[in-house]
Amino acid sequence: MKLNFRMFATIASLFVLFMLAACGGSNDTASDASGESGAVSGKIGVVSFMTGSGAAYGEAITNGLELAEKELDEAGEVDVELVIEDSAGEPDQALSVTQKLINSEDVVGIIGPTLSTEMEVVGPVADQNGVPIMGTSNTAEGIPQIGEYVFRDSIPETQAIPASVEKAIEEYDAKKVAIMYGNDDVFTKAGYDAMKDAAEDLGLEELTTQTFQIGQSDYKAQLSKIKQMEPDLILCSALYNEGAVIMKQARSMGIDVPFVGGNGFNSPEVIEIAGDAADGLIVATPWFTKKDDQKVQDFVSTYKDEFGKEPDQFAAQAYDGLYLMAEGLKNAGEADRDELRDAIAEIDGFEGVLGDISFDEDGDVVMDPTVLIIEDGEFKEMK
Ligand code: ALA
Repeated sequence: MKLNFRMFATIASLFVLFMLAACGGSNDTASDASGESGAVSGKIGVVSFMTGSGAAYGEAITNGLELAEKELDEAGEVDVELVIEDSAGEPDQALSVTQKLINSEDVVGIIGPTLSTEMEVVGPVADQNGVPIMGTSNTAEGIPQIGEYVFRDSIPETQAIPASVEKAIEEYDAKKVAIMYGNDDVFTKAGYDAMKDAAEDLGLEELTTQTFQIGQSDYKAQLSKIKQMEPDLILCSALYNEGAVIMKQARSMGIDVPFVGGNGFNSPEVIEIAGDAADGLIVATPWFTKKDDQKVQDFVSTYKDEFGKEPDQFAAQAYDGLYLMAEGLKNAGEADRDELRDAIAEIDGFEGVLGDISFDEDGDVVMDPTVLIIEDGEFKEMK
């Protein structure tokens, strides 16, 4: 009886080993190690702000991702399947869809979430679960420092803001500034810190600092104080929904000085909402549709054919973000979360539409911004 059991156990073990070998061995994730074509294949989760006040961010991001997915599929080297979830810009919702992506969808990596406020909650969870996560629009300080699985391809405000303030000083001989910022959001607060530091470093006189909150509709009290002080420039750290309304109200009150904004303010939606009042908004970004670069021009024209409009900064950052994930998967050679993390960290000089992309030791992108200004309802380069 004992002998029979041993024999049975041995045969059963051999059978299990055979089945594991036939299935390609054990795998950390449920994503396939390789597709039928032999290309590495993996599920990439996406957490995006697709409904609510920042839905234009989510639309641009998912358009950029879907275009990259289609092109990757056609190229056939990496087989990426996107699993897209809406966070509505809410940290709690971002967290619950991230947990679903990690535990039920078994994704090998995640792109998103859109807001730094969300990434501060989601990033530590992805990191603790050993899932590489790539922010494509988070620009607050400290995002990649959340953990070794956290990356971003969007340049932080600390790089973008000094570049735009410097250009504004050069162009308008600005000496006195007023600052406005949203004090209930991680990105708008980080933007404020970067603006204050830039103003101090560049010797600007700070006349007043005014605050507001997400969803506020009336800014006249803050703008009246600013108007009285007659600044040469307004540094305003806002997401597009609030930023556009601030500019509209400022212009209607006769405040016609230029504004400097951060990454969240840099959306065509500002022109859509504020119309002519958006003229004079200065932002810095590695993305510019008129860049004299074949890769950029091909992306702009394919995107326009596909979605009927030009890609904005959020679309471009997401497009490159998926290519970076795919490059990582290809170099990892299998859909394994740890291998993917290491492969992303090693990317050096990847040629994206944003420019040549590498990461520093924290997982922060290294890149030079271009300074843009809205003139006659269009983003133009400030030379
Ligand atoms: N850049 C904005 C953020 O980091 C969208 O929240």
